Amino acid sequence: MKNILFAASECVPFIKTGGLADVAGALPKMFNKDEYDVRVIIPNYTCIPEKYRNNFKYITHFYMELGSRFDSVHVGIMEYQHEGVTFYFVDNEFYFNGDKPYADTRYDIEKFTFFSKAVLAILPVINFRPDIIHCHDWQAGLIPVFMKTLYANNEFYSRTKTIMTIHNLRFQGVWDIDTFKYLTSLPDYMFTPDKLEFKEDANMLKGGMVYADYITTVSDTYAGEIQTEYYGEGLDGLLRARNQSLCGIVNGIDYDAYNPQNDKDIYKTYTARTMKKSKAANKRALQEELGLPVDENKFMIAVISRLTDQKGLDLIDATLDRIADEHTQFVVIGTGEERYENLFKHFEWKYPERVSANIFFSEAFAHKVYAASDAMLVPSRFEPCGLTQLIAMRYGSVPVVRETGGLKDTVAPYNEYEGTGTGFSFTNYNAEDMLNVINYAKHIYYDDRKAWDEIAKRGMTADYSWNTSARRYEQLYDMIIG
Ligand code: GLC
Repeated sequence: MKNILFAASECVPFIKTGGLADVAGALPKMFNKDEYDVRVIIPNYTCIPEKYRNNFKYITHFYMELGSRFDSVHVGIMEYQHEGVTFYFVDNEFYFNGDKPYADTRYDIEKFTFFSKAVLAILPVINFRPDIIHCHDWQAGLIPVFMKTLYANNEFYSRTKTIMTIHNLRFQGVWDIDTFKYLTSLPDYMFTPDKLEFKEDANMLKGGMVYADYITTVSDTYAGEIQTEYYGEGLDGLLRARNQSLCGIVNGIDYDAYNPQNDKDIYKTYTARTMKKSKAANKRALQEELGLPVDENKFMIAVISRLTDQKGLDLIDATLDRIADEHTQFVVIGTGEERYENLFKHFEWKYPERVSANIFFSEAFAHKVYAASDAMLVPSRFEPCGLTQLIAMRYGSVPVVRETGGLKDTVAPYNEYEGTGTGFSFTNYNAEDMLNVINYAKHIYYDDRKAWDEIAKRGMTADYSWNTSARRYEQLYDMIIG
């Protein structure tokens, strides 16, 4: 049996702010259980819903030194079984309180330094000896660092290897070196540009990338892109240097959680065969709920996204006046930067019949939008993998994407001569190019509805489940374990 531990800062169904949570929650279930014992460890946030927290089983607790802090800190361990996977929760109310997992950066830096160190302190106590600790994003970045320093000669970890997976290179966990020295007690020689130092500060993700035995990211294209200056976020040199220990494995989605055939959140369930009629019914019901004119012939294009710079929202800003013509309804759902929230509220005010801005996030409501919409717009500036386009295809909503990262790897552009493709795409980060491809999509929708339905059907019947990717992770684990 190979023991694998996922270390992450969020994980469905317990806590989610982004796609990382979907991956950390869905992927562990997908491994061959006869060969891999995959467990997950995340913080025990007080904002995890009570229905879970009340059922967490207390295992034990102890106290741990943390950097130069005068008092040692409490480390509690809770356990919970969910869908055949063992989850551990690192307990410390001082660090993991509040109504969301992340808050002020300085404070987040400290709490995930604590988390990373606590993970390594916990495993010997519960006697789970991983062959691989699979670390996700900067919040787990110090695990490989502590492993190769503090625990370098520790018998318990003599066989343990680490993998650092980058879900988004933009977020790195950067703060000043003195603070990191205080929090970690790592020696001075670690804070040099070949190790933790990054433009005179210290960088947790970089530490993970330097010290992990292997680095992965969530699509092939993104693995290539991040080795270039444009996408490299200042770390492209390091990624080029480690290019022999770097690969991309594209994400899948949880085919049980996202299944239009038995989705309890949507108005009318459907399959690829019954899609056409049922999606129209879903559309009418959503239009009604949103107070939009009820008309199934409107082209409904949606955006389901964190409202951040990464997502290409300035391209939408520049063109929404022209996207939202009299045949079109534009529906957005998500939260994020205020300027984008205001932008969409403004357009809703300007075009109440054509634009619906839903500035909140609700999983159930998102499912309704996937089921109701004809198309899903994902014009990202960069996109490590992107899950929206995968979910959209599963629901027969045709993705319109920019060809970057995972969007490029998962959406095959429609080819009207060969009758192939699962969506529409444009190459350059340019608003007019995006508008052109949206208009081309509308043209197919209105003038060749049969072709449109075939595109949607190809998306619905393609396999974007975790199956293929889980096998690739298994191969990678085997190779690293040796
Ligand atoms: C991040 C990325 C997204 C990716 C997700 C899961 O949220 O921005 O592209 O799909 O992580 O890997």
